[in-house]
Amino acid sequence: MEDRYILAIESSCDETSVAVLKNEDQLLSNIIASQVESHKRFGGVVPEVASRHHVEVITLCIQDALAEAGITAQDLSAVAVTEGPGLVGALLVGMAAAKAFAWANGLPLIPVNHMAGHLMAAREQGALTYPLLALLVSGGHTELVYVEKAGAYRIVGETRDDAVGEAYDKVGRVMGLSYPAGREIDILAHKGQDRYHFPRAMIKEDNLEFSFSGLKSAFINLHHNAQQKGEELVSEDLCASFQAAVLDILMVKTKKALEKYPVKTLVVAGGVAANQGLRERLAKDIQDVEVLIPPLRLCGDNAGMIALAAAVEYEKGNFASLDLNAKPSLAFETIE
Ligand code: KG4
Ligand code: ZN
Repeated sequence: MEDRYILAIESSCDETSVAVLKNEDQLLSNIIASQVESHKRFGGVVPEVASRHHVEVITLCIQDALAEAGITAQDLSAVAVTEGPGLVGALLVGMAAAKAFAWANGLPLIPVNHMAGHLMAAREQGALTYPLLALLVSGGHTELVYVEKAGAYRIVGETRDDAVGEAYDKVGRVMGLSYPAGREIDILAHKGQDRYHFPRAMIKEDNLEFSFSGLKSAFINLHHNAQQKGEELVSEDLCASFQAAVLDILMVKTKKALEKYPVKTLVVAGGVAANQGLRERLAKDIQDVEVLIPPLRLCGDNAGMIALAAAVEYEKGNFASLDLNAKPSLAFETIE
C-alpha cells in the first residue's frame, strides 16, 4: 500500500502548529510556535493578539513542517485543520491557511475537533482498543468522554463552570505566578502539604459532573483574607492543598465513570495531563484499567494530535468542502 501523509494545522488558541503524519501514527514533524511569552504580560491569552501572531507565522510553520518531514506538498494525501472549539479569530487563521493550501494543491480537507485531537494524541504510542473512556483536562475543557469506536466521541460528564486548567491559571494569577501557571503550581505542590483543606465540590453526588469555581473562590478568599490580616501563607502548602482538591475531584469522578462504563482503557489527555501529581495519582489509584497518557510534548496544544485524530476521520471519509467554517463552540454530542 502507498504511504499516506497528512498535513495538519492547529491554531485554536495561543500555539500556531503544523505537523506531518505518515500513515497511522508516525509523526514526521510537529512544529509549534508558542505565543506564550507575548500573552504573559497580560496574564492570559488576548484573542486579537493571538490571531495576529497566527497570521505572522502560519506560512513559515507549514514550510518548516514539510521540510522537517522531508516531503513536499505533492506527497500529501490530505490537509487537516482544527475546526473548533477555540477562539474564533485564531481558528479562522488556521482555517483560511488550510483551505488555501488544500485548494492550491488539490487535496481533500479534513475537519478535526480540537478535543478529539487531545484524546487521539494517545494514538502515537500505538493503536487504541475500543470502547474506551477519556478524561480530557485542558485550559478550556474538563470532560469525560466515552469512545465506543474510532471517531465516535460522546460526552458522559463535564464541568458545570470552570475548566481545571482555567482554575490553575486563575489561582496562579492570584499568587502572582506567570501565565500559564499549571506547571509551576504542580512543582510547588510537590514541596508542600495539604494544610488548607479546600472543598471538593460534588464528589459525593452520584453524577459525572465537575465543578471548580467553588474551589477557586475558596482559594481566592483565603488568599485575600490572609493578605488583609497581614498573615503569611506558605505558597507550597497553598499549591499542595489546591492540587490535592483538584486531584481528588478528578479521581472520584473518573472512577465513577469507569464503574458506569466498564472499559479496558482510560486515556487522560489535554494540557493538564502534563501534571505530575495527576500522573502519580492515576498510577496509584487505577489498577484494573490500562491508563494511556500522551507524552508531554503532545499534551499541550499541537498539530501532531490533530493529525492523529485526522487519520481516523480520513478512514471514515469525513472530508469537508471549501465552505467549511470555524466553530468556536464545537462540542461532542452528550449522552446520559
Ligand atoms: O490543552 P492546553 O494546552 O490548551 C487548551 O486547549 O486549553 O491546556 C493548557 C492548560 C493551561 O491552563 C495550563 O495551566 C495547563 O494546561 N497545564 C497544567 C500543567 N501544564 C499545563 N496544569 C496543571 N499541571 C501542569 N503540569
Ligand atoms: Zn487544547
